[in-house]
Amino acid sequence: MHATATAHPNIALVKYWGKRDIALNLPAVPSLSLTLDGFSTTTTVTLGAPADRMWLDGAEAAPKVAAKALRFLDLVVPGRPPCEIVSVNNFPTGAGLASSASGFAALALAAAAAAGQPLDLPRLSVLARQGSGSACRSLWGGFVEWQVGVAADGSDSLGVPVAPPDHWDLAMVVGVVSTAGKAVGSTEGMERSRLTSPLYTTWVDQAAADVDEGRAAVLARDLPRLGRVMEASTYKMHATMHTSEPPLMYWQPGSVGALQAVWALRAAGTPCWTTMDAGPQVKVLCPPEHADAVVAALRPHTQAVRVLRPGGPAAVIEGP
Ligand code: PMV
Repeated sequence: MHATATAHPNIALVKYWGKRDIALNLPAVPSLSLTLDGFSTTTTVTLGAPADRMWLDGAEAAPKVAAKALRFLDLVVPGRPPCEIVSVNNFPTGAGLASSASGFAALALAAAAAAGQPLDLPRLSVLARQGSGSACRSLWGGFVEWQVGVAADGSDSLGVPVAPPDHWDLAMVVGVVSTAGKAVGSTEGMERSRLTSPLYTTWVDQAAADVDEGRAAVLARDLPRLGRVMEASTYKMHATMHTSEPPLMYWQPGSVGALQAVWALRAAGTPCWTTMDAGPQVKVLCPPEHADAVVAALRPHTQAVRVLRPGGPAAVIEGP
């Protein structure tokens, strides 16, 4: 039996950095995200293959990647037979563009559909979180909040929709500074920050207020308010990374050039706000009618620029 599902990546508007439980991927902080169209992962799961195997972007997946995905299938379909996973990203994998978010969301949905399970998005969000934290936000389209939860088993730590994609037409302009894979993965990086950064406690203490502010700004469609809290959350997170021991620096010279170009554009009157994740890419939130000006500002500092809009939820595109 097989099924195919797609999911879009999401970019955090208020960031997740830090775990209170590594095994269950329980976050130390809540977060708020925007699911994006344009970029997507498409994943087919075949239950009852000759052997466990995974293909990623047209080649056999690296053993660590395959082992993690196949272990994740044990959670979604307990007692499963041998499985084959075929997953394709239409954007760079593992480069700070949230491929793990769309990847685990698509995998959870495809596996549940292949097994003939009810497609219960809250349950799949709890499961996707255990594959990659931010994946719990990619089951839904539009604006999504990941609630920290209080249950020890993580059953109430999942993505919750805040507003659908058509609530607010925004552009997220993605400047690709480098597509090289990241040197330090997010789990290792978060633990390093938790254990060594003197700013980590402040970061955690301020996160819930930032999510409240971000949610209110989304519901009021107030872009300067959302942009301000997105930049505040972004640079508090990166300050926590930079003050880890040894320092975690995901930025490259092109990232700094891109940030300065966008801030200069804003100072000259264009409404646009920056964000970055665990990679060198610079993403810019702006009204769609200002996207061309942002693209022009990013171009000298980047290899490629894409304009993305709010995207829809994960979906099964071929059933068993
Ligand atoms: O879901 P993970 O483990 O890849 O962590 C994602 C962390 C950030 O992208 C840096 C922030 C976020 O909230 O997406």
